[in-house]
Amino acid sequence: MKKKMWDGRFESGMASAMVDLSFSLHFDQELIREDVAGTLAHCAGLVQSGILTPEEFKLVQTELPLIRDEILQGKDLFSAEDEDIHMALERILTIRIGEVGKKIHTGRSRNDQVATDFKVYLRRASSEILEHLVNLQSVVLKLAKDNIEHIMPGYTHLQQAQPILFSHYILSLFWALERDKKRYKSFLEIHNSCPLGSGAMAGSAFPYQRDLVAGALGFKTITDNSIDAVSHRDAALEFLSHAAVLISGISRYAEDFVIWSSLEFGFLSLHDSFSSGSSMMPQKKNPDSMELIRGKAGRIIGNFTSLYTTVKGSPLSYSRDLQEDKEPIFDTHKTVMVILRVMAEALATANFKFSVMEKKMESGLLATDLADLLVEKGIPFRDAHHLVGVLVGKAVANDCAFTELPDDDWASVPGFDELRRQLSFRNSVERRNIAGGTGSASVQAQIIKAEQIIRDELRN
Ligand code: ARG
Repeated sequence: MKKKMWDGRFESGMASAMVDLSFSLHFDQELIREDVAGTLAHCAGLVQSGILTPEEFKLVQTELPLIRDEILQGKDLFSAEDEDIHMALERILTIRIGEVGKKIHTGRSRNDQVATDFKVYLRRASSEILEHLVNLQSVVLKLAKDNIEHIMPGYTHLQQAQPILFSHYILSLFWALERDKKRYKSFLEIHNSCPLGSGAMAGSAFPYQRDLVAGALGFKTITDNSIDAVSHRDAALEFLSHAAVLISGISRYAEDFVIWSSLEFGFLSLHDSFSSGSSMMPQKKNPDSMELIRGKAGRIIGNFTSLYTTVKGSPLSYSRDLQEDKEPIFDTHKTVMVILRVMAEALATANFKFSVMEKKMESGLLATDLADLLVEKGIPFRDAHHLVGVLVGKAVANDCAFTELPDDDWASVPGFDELRRQLSFRNSVERRNIAGGTGSASVQAQIIKAEQIIRDELRN
């Protein structure tokens, strides 16, 4: 192996197997933007500390972004000796601007450098996810507004349970996403301090301009403890946890939409552009977009598990294990973004079959309403539940809807004639105009609240 930047005390180079284990350039070049921004902020501080002259800083300021852009455009400036993006950029810069390149790492360690880059990355990723969450919420809200008149069966245990408005169903996603947004917003609040100046673990020995550097990177403040700053990966863990919660929720809608796309349900036909065919069966149109969302949720939860496991046994302060924090985060960020995009576009273009939903509703959905109506007539709920249960049992035995049983069977139900007339899917929905319920006035109230949330988001 060629010489390394840190090899002053070493007699031999790194074994090739060790290189394979150790080098991280192939994945941490993802941090190139953050690393260049971090180095420029750090160097601005070095000018204030008297380590770099303004002219030397100018050189760095001119050359480093050029190097970044060339790499981003696909130019291969890397060499076999570059173990990570941080060393690579310093090496390339030094080739281009000479001695000044060798000064830029003054007062900094890769430990605080990486911790800073990573935090900046996580903050950007969280902001991007937040934007996509708002976008998906807007799609959901539009669906709810455009289809407020449609009734569908609501499910528990994947069995028809009670009639609901389609809008009520779809808005359930809106409110779950709202909590996901709150989690990412809180993330941005909590993880807003800059590690630079922490050095390897004990703090920089130079008159490091911590506030200036933090401000240049958009941080609100600086970290309070250098060991904390280089050791902890709670920001990454929290990011993964929020992603796992978010994706576990979305995956359930994906699962519903897979089921709805089946011939047996027939509630939904995804647009061709979010479906795939079969290589063998010409008739197939598969809801692959939803299956993939469901599948990728497993992978995000895997990323979550992987980093928690890595971090928990790593002694303080920095240990090299922590280099393993990058891939789960990069993968999670990209996967969450694509899932949110696909879900938004697939929903916006989907064909929901409202007439099928209505046709598939069976009268058992009204059993609770009948029991409730009996309660209103003064019968204790448990007795009412039993009376209706007996009716339903007879209907099952006769293979008909309980509402269609002959009057003889209804005779045990007091005032049945009038009650039967009140039983309809629409009435069932409208009896539930309680706040948060499926009645149309309640759902309108949800829509108004949701619209205000989206308006506020777009204003900010
Ligand atoms: N590539 C390393 C990482 O991401 C950089 C830090 C190396 N620090 C060290 N003390 N060897 O964690």
